[in-house]
Order: sequence, then C-alpha cells, then structure tokens
Amino acid sequence: MKIKVFSKEDIPGAVKLWNSCARNGQTVYAPITEDRFQEIFFESPHYRQEYVIAAFDEEGQMAGFGAGLLKRFYLQGENFDNTPAYVTMVLVDPQKQRRGVGTAILRDLEDRFRTAGKRKAAITYRNPAALTWDIPGHRGIQHNNAPGVLMDSPGFHFFKDQGYELMRVENGLYLPLAGYKIPQRILEKREVLREKGIETGMFDPEKHEGFEELFDALRGEVWRQTIRDNQKRDRPLPVLIASDRGKIVGFAGPIDREENGRGWFNGIGTHPDYEGQGIASVLFHCLMETFASIGAEYSTLFTDEENPAMFLYQSAGFSTGAKFGVMEKERL
Ligand SMILES: CC(C)(COP(=O)(O)OP(=O)(O)OC[C@H]1O[C@@H](n2cnc3c(N)ncnc32)[C@H](O)[C@@H]1OP(=O)(O)O)[C@@H](O)C(=O)NCCC(=O)NCCS
Repeated sequence: MKIKVFSKEDIPGAVKLWNSCARNGQTVYAPITEDRFQEIFFESPHYRQEYVIAAFDEEGQMAGFGAGLLKRFYLQGENFDNTPAYVTMVLVDPQKQRRGVGTAILRDLEDRFRTAGKRKAAITYRNPAALTWDIPGHRGIQHNNAPGVLMDSPGFHFFKDQGYELMRVENGLYLPLAGYKIPQRILEKREVLREKGIETGMFDPEKHEGFEELFDALRGEVWRQTIRDNQKRDRPLPVLIASDRGKIVGFAGPIDREENGRGWFNGIGTHPDYEGQGIASVLFHCLMETFASIGAEYSTLFTDEENPAMFLYQSAGFSTGAKFGVMEKERL
C-alpha cells in the first residue's frame, strides 16, 4: 500500500468511497458531491496540501483517504501552541476495512502533524472544517457540523484503538418547525422581563450596544467573530438580543435559512450577571418563531450532554438525533 498526498484527480474516487460509507450506514455524514468535497477539503482558508492524503492498493485503487487541518488563522486568544491539529476525516473503502488501512492513514497524518510541531490531535466541532450529517431516520433533516465522531460507530472504536480519549459527548438535536408557536408560559416570561426593564427583540445598532462586553463575559470567540463578520455585511442577518436599557445582555443568532430548509444560527448566550431569569428561554423560543417566519422547516443544533441548556432545548420540543464523541490524543 502507498500513501500519497491527495491530488484533485483523486476527488471522484474519494467521493465514491465517501458515498458508499454514507449509504451503508457506517456514518451519518450526508452524501457528498465532488464540488462540495472540493469546497470542504481544498478551498478552506486553512488548506495545506500535505494534510490531505490517500492510500492506494497494489492495483493503484484508492483504499481510503485522510484529511486533517492545522489552523492558519486564529480566533482571539488562539495561537499555534494552544490549538491542536484537527483530524477531519479518515475513511476506508468498506471492502477494505479491518486490514490496517485506516491505521496507516492516521499514522501518516499524525507524523505530518508531529513534523509541523503539533503535540495534540483532536476530533471536535472546533475544527473549522464542518461536515454535514443527516439525522438518522429523518431523511432530509441535516445539521451542518458533525461535532465529533459518531458514538459507538466503527470510527469511534477505531480512534479509541489509536489512543484517542473520549473528552465529551455532544448531543445532536432537531425540531421540525411546522406549526411552531411560542408557548404561553414563554410569552408570560417575556412580559416579566419587560417589567424589569429587559427587552427582547431584534438587534438595532442605533439602539443597542455591548456585544464585545457580552462575548468577553461569555468567552465566546467564535460568536464574537461571527457577529463582527455579520455586522460588516452589506445587509447583516438579523440577531435577536435581550437588552437592559440598551445594553446587550443576551443574544441568539445571527439568523438565516439554509437551502436545505434548516434554520441556521450561530449561538445563544446570556451574560452571567443576568442568568437565571429566563432570558435564554425567551430568546430561544423567539428564535424558533423567527425561523418559522422565514420559511425554515426545521432547526438542529448540538450541545454537550451535560450542558444545562439541554433542558431548555428539550422543553422546546427538541429530540436527540445522534450522539458524537469529542476525542483527543494528548501525545502524538
Ligand atoms: C473508521 C475507519 C476509517 C477504520 O478503517 P480501517 O481500515 O477498517 O481501520 P483498521 O483496520 O486500521 O482498524 C484498526 C483498529 O480499529 C478498531 N476498529 C476499526 N473498525 C472497527 C469496527 N467496525 N468495530 C470495532 N472496532 C473497529 C479495531 O480495534 C481495529 O483493529 P483490529 O481490526 O485489529 O481489531 C473505517 O471504518 C471507515 O472508513 N469508516 C467510515 C468513515 C468514518 O466514520 N470515519 C471516522 C470519522 S472521521
């Protein structure tokens, strides 16, 4: 077997393997097109050719491929030393599995990470390369970012065997939005907040300020960046906020509808000084209502299974579609 750096001519072969794994139920990743494959693995701003590799058997057939990523651009507070190498994908032809191909690909990738000076590798939602997955049993309901390795899948056992440790379990949740209405108890909560001087509604730069302070308090660097980028757009997407006399104390957004019918938002959070008053519940339900009003058919999200926000999502009617493991190998 030979492992080589991937070239664009290898894309059709890799897409075929990907789609055969997607069809046989080994993974929950959505079937992929060549264009989408190219977009994820070759057009990322973090792309470097040495971290996309393929294994070929004696007949020159592709037996599998692997893709990893080292960040080239960092969020606030991140740098080379405090970010891991990310494993985006190791995928082996279903006809050639359990023969050590996956191990050979992963070892090759890890050697490359080590040579670059990385000591730690991770499979996590923090990887900027996002892989869309289908909610099992609900064709057409998709989430845009698999937050780790599907629990108890071949991939999960494989990474465990390779010395990766399970750090956290993330629940992938979904809610069909047909007929969605804000429950009465939430409308009442909204009123109680209003009486205390806390308004919930759409962000208006003329009236509200304080995103930066909110993200400092929440340590939300991805959210900070997304909101900053959104505000630079010609027509920024709407963002729901809670404000205390103009000061932003909670947010949910930015809000959009994806082509596949999914309501998209980047995050939700309440300032720690304002927790425990129902702000996130009100914002979250307003978010679902906004989704429904812009024609979104469903909402999906993921969260740590131990995150108290699980109660909020479940009480809004969300069900768990799949569980994913965030996995790390400390010493490459
Ligand atoms: C995960 C995957 C890449 C493994 O490839 P592979 O070539 O079969 O892996 P290897 O033969 O090197 O397996 C090494 C070890 O991993 C473990 N392992 C691999 N597949 C397993 C499975 N289906 N069930 C249990 N353990 C498994 C075993 O310990 C195995 O050693 P063994 O065969 O001596 O028992 C392959 O199953 C695959 O392509 N899955 C679909 C894509 C995917 O989900 N990738 C992970 C997400 S990035």
